[in-house]
Amino acid sequence: MSSHSDAIKFAYWVPNVSGGLVISNIEQRTGWDIDYNRKLAQIAEANGFDYALSQIRFTAGYGADNQHESVSFSHALLAATTTLKVIAAILPGPWNPALAAKQIATINHLTNGRVSVNVVSGWFRGEFAAIGELWLDHDERYRRSEEFIRALRGIWTEDSFTLKGDFYRFTNYSMKPKPIEPLPEIFQGGSSRAARDMASRVSDWYFTNGNTPEEIRKQVDDIRTKAKANGHKVRIGVNAFAIARESEQEARAVLDEIIAKANPEAVQGFADQVKNAGKASPEGEGNWAKSSLEDLVQYNDGFRSNLIGTPEQIAERILKLKDAGADLILLGFLHFQEEVEFFGKRVIPLVRELEAARDRELVAAE
Ligand SMILES: Cc1cc2nc3c(=O)[nH]c(=O)nc-3n(C[C@H](O)[C@H](O)[C@H](O)COP(=O)(O)O)c2cc1C
Repeated sequence: MSSHSDAIKFAYWVPNVSGGLVISNIEQRTGWDIDYNRKLAQIAEANGFDYALSQIRFTAGYGADNQHESVSFSHALLAATTTLKVIAAILPGPWNPALAAKQIATINHLTNGRVSVNVVSGWFRGEFAAIGELWLDHDERYRRSEEFIRALRGIWTEDSFTLKGDFYRFTNYSMKPKPIEPLPEIFQGGSSRAARDMASRVSDWYFTNGNTPEEIRKQVDDIRTKAKANGHKVRIGVNAFAIARESEQEARAVLDEIIAKANPEAVQGFADQVKNAGKASPEGEGNWAKSSLEDLVQYNDGFRSNLIGTPEQIAERILKLKDAGADLILLGFLHFQEEVEFFGKRVIPLVRELEAARDRELVAAE
């Protein structure tokens, strides 16, 4: 057994979409503008966060009235920071891999290699209709995403790249400059079987919605078994909506208020759209397939991870998610600037202490 485990990584959701991360009329002290976001990114990197994850949305819905584009916004955040890595969300369809590979390679040079991508596969059918994008069946969307990722990596690494795919075609393509090594990391979001299979073949990172350690472990076991058979290594990121307060009672009261002030029509509208995701897969599993209306008040089932309580309780629960196989925790907050700082100052150091104690136990046992 290894006597030293990798430190779990922390990411936060970039609020580049308006309206916050809960579909509720509770006060959310946040901002989707660039000034708010630059300051937030600087607070995050000064307080132990490794990554920021941007969102891609083309149209409004459920309170997200304004949406800044993810790649350009990510670059602006990279330009305002020095160590933070920023993950730019990319949606195959609107993006093709030739453009994405070139954009990201350039940003990689401009930012000393700090840009990554999150290849998302689409859940919002109304959005595709609004912008005239063909809506593919669930598993076809993943076949396209997999080709997209293979194309990105091929363009970034091969001198003369050829791909005769069902969605994309490249012939002796030589893109220069190549990104600075190590290559931009490729994340993906989704937890259906197609998503897990894709992760076990091509992605560097698999992002999944919030869940209990038991349910995360099932996904991890499935992905890692398949990845091993494919000779591939993939790391796991788990979403959580954090409510860290001095007392558990205070934190629970905030959750109760979020739910009590939820906007029922908007939550129901979101519930109707997300049926196009996991539930529409052949096996009927994946993101949102088992979500209750309460879960859906947070876009990515973030209450289910239960990082709601005191810093000590949250740190212990993060260790349980790590034991279940999580390599990264992706965090959403109500009041971003204030809470990213509080989380970084009060929770992350406790996680590091627990990790160090665990390592000492392992050394003692050897
Ligand atoms: C962490 C995370 C971030 C995501 N970001 C976006 C995004 O910015 N834009 C988008 O359209 N979909 C996004 N998605 C949705 C996924 O791409 C996917 O459509 C959804 O999770 C359903 O996948 P499934 O059917 O495989 O479970 C995200 C998903 C996760 C887990």
